[in-house]
Amino acid sequence: MKIKGNTILITGGSTGIGFALAEAFVKEGNTVIICGRREHKLKEAKNKYPQIHTRVCDLTKETEREALYNWVRFEFKDINILINNAGIQRMIDFRKGISNLSDGENEIDINLTVPIQLSAYFIPELLNKTESAIINVSSGLGFVPLAIMPVYCATKAAMHSFSLSLRHQLKNTSIKVFEVIPPMVDTELDKGSRDERGQRDKGIAPAEVARATLKALEKNEYEIAIGMAQNLRMGARNNPEQVFQGINQ
Ligand SMILES: NC(=O)c1ccc[n+]([C@@H]2O[C@H](COP(=O)([O-])OP(=O)(O)OC[C@H]3O[C@@H](n4cnc5c(N)ncnc54)[C@H](OP(=O)(O)O)[C@@H]3O)[C@@H](O)[C@H]2O)c1
Repeated sequence: MKIKGNTILITGGSTGIGFALAEAFVKEGNTVIICGRREHKLKEAKNKYPQIHTRVCDLTKETEREALYNWVRFEFKDINILINNAGIQRMIDFRKGISNLSDGENEIDINLTVPIQLSAYFIPELLNKTESAIINVSSGLGFVPLAIMPVYCATKAAMHSFSLSLRHQLKNTSIKVFEVIPPMVDTELDKGSRDERGQRDKGIAPAEVARATLKALEKNEYEIAIGMAQNLRMGARNNPEQVFQGINQ
């Protein structure tokens, strides 16, 4: 996959891994569009890279999702890469019942329903391009779950499954399907809970994820497991019980 001259939509591209990808792709001369709910974060990104295009959008709202799709396909006719990156992470204790599940944002909506819906919207657009891609950001925790965040891990396992099926369905088309599988990364993702747990290891820098991703895209490596996520992916296949116990002590 070429990493220059593309037109790329990155969901959740104003912070963390999404912003690092936006930055890396802008530096390679691509046209980059980012979206997110917080306008001030999008403005910060645009102040740093004025050539980035931004759109305020809550992707969990069907009307906003559809409006984003229509805006992108009319304003950026060359769109050839969709990066499904936006996501949230929550600790949920099922012993506390339904209130603990319901008192917060719905991880299934943003982490799973949104990428599936956006893929369905954009695939017909991407099929018309000479070379195009869908890049799904899953997680090492999709391979071995961390039990304190059960819904998050389930959505990421589902994203792995969805990526496999999409890749198979699209194998004779112009669309390549990549899955980025990050380890723990130092971002705002569920930062409150990380602090609460007294987590000292903050993970790798988002820029490292971006670097590894661009390198792998160029080589058409479809499953991009990064750092410790490689161990989780391998462990899930070779020694699942021991690896599960290991991260859930
Ligand atoms: N950090 C890690 O350790 C790690 C590890 C593995 C995988 N990942 C995955 O990497 C992806 C990016 O996460 P990150 O770590 O970079 O965290 P982050 O900085 O919090 O990024 C998440 C982005 O998603 C956007 N977003 C969330 N809900 C949205 C919604 N309803 N509509 C539109 N945008 C929304 C956020 O922007 P707004 O809040 O402004 O909407 C934010 O820009 C996620 O899919 C995450 O699961 C992260």
